[in-house]
Amino acid sequence: MTNGTGDYQTGFGNHFSTEAVEGALPVGRNSPQRPAFGLYTEQFSTTAFTAPRAENRRSWLYRLRPAASHPPFTPFQAAPRLASAPLAAGPVDPNRLRWSALALPEQPTDWLDGLVTYGANGDVATGAGIGVHLYAANRSMERRAVQFSDGELLIVPQTGTLAITTELGRMDVRPGHIALIPRGMRFTVALDGPARGYVAENYGAPFQLPDLGPIGSNGLANPRDFETPVAWFEDSDGDYELVQKFQGHLWHTTLGHSPFDVVAWHGNSVPLRYDLARFNTIGTVSFDHPDPSIFTVLTSPAETPGTANCDFVIFPPRWMVAEDTFRPPWFHRNVMSEFMGLIHGVYDAKEGGGFEPGGASLHNQMNGHGPDAASTAKAMDARLTPVKLDDTLAFMFESRWVIAPTAAALALPELQPAYDDCWTGFAKATLPPTE
Ligand code: FE2
Repeated sequence: MTNGTGDYQTGFGNHFSTEAVEGALPVGRNSPQRPAFGLYTEQFSTTAFTAPRAENRRSWLYRLRPAASHPPFTPFQAAPRLASAPLAAGPVDPNRLRWSALALPEQPTDWLDGLVTYGANGDVATGAGIGVHLYAANRSMERRAVQFSDGELLIVPQTGTLAITTELGRMDVRPGHIALIPRGMRFTVALDGPARGYVAENYGAPFQLPDLGPIGSNGLANPRDFETPVAWFEDSDGDYELVQKFQGHLWHTTLGHSPFDVVAWHGNSVPLRYDLARFNTIGTVSFDHPDPSIFTVLTSPAETPGTANCDFVIFPPRWMVAEDTFRPPWFHRNVMSEFMGLIHGVYDAKEGGGFEPGGASLHNQMNGHGPDAASTAKAMDARLTPVKLDDTLAFMFESRWVIAPTAAALALPELQPAYDDCWTGFAKATLPPTE
């Protein structure tokens, strides 16, 4: 499969082998005494060496120079709206929050500088929780690369295609697709115009496909639809800035060459992209609305079985056929905390407006939410014929821990001051008269 940036290999969790120069990849061993062409060998591990085999992730890289060869990192003042957990002490706002679409920048802003943290939970120091960011950018990172040592990145573009160059190869990621970048992998983002989207920075266990239980051996996100780039490198000398996010702060150093000098690699700790249109959506064909966990694309499990450090859940186009059923998402109060975004279209629980593509909402632990009054009235009156929900794509980052909003997010002009109003105007239920 070929696109503007290159070829892909397919399969989630596969052990890939790829070389950009014939003969660069050792055969039958990882660390030969003298790799071909004088390349340097590096193991890149994103799980502990002793992780169970089914969860173990590592790749072997063969590069022009060791990644270890760089001057010291020094503190770096950039991306001023990027934050990490734990956030500054203070009461966590329990209110339901919603933001209009994040404004695109007027000044030249690259993908890294354009990150704005909306919320976070857990702690980067202990490797649990997530950071939730949006980005709004209008220029390429040029000769700047970044590595997020604090977590794996799940990137959800909303507008604008991202051309992502990683150490293991290049990916085009357009709206409707997602990208996964392993913790600590160096990458840079080029743009062909204004870009906006969402990021879950996963401090915890790497995302994996959810178990399917009684669904069986197929369905939801199928492994074969995940795409990993083939090896690609540039032999480019000259200054190249390398930024690192480490324990909640940014650091930088300058390399004398491009960091994208991996000529061959093999392994299973890899960047991925996935077209959300490939998601095999499953729902009821009788009655009632299944729990939205039926829409889980990827999950980062927490240490308590059955709970997630982060679930990535989508609400894609689908048929609604349930009989005698309130079809939109029901009202609920949830022990898990929910951060939602909208890629395009209208979300079926917010037909009253206000939830915009590029916007966001946050419904934290045990705080009631659900359809707005307009959606509720419409759903209660609807004639229950089969209906296709089309031209819509919403998603949720869901976590077992409360997602504390950042002070910066609470100060954004996009924060909607009257979000609670969407749950006003409900007629009171009428009981039969008492004797
Ligand atoms: Fe919810």
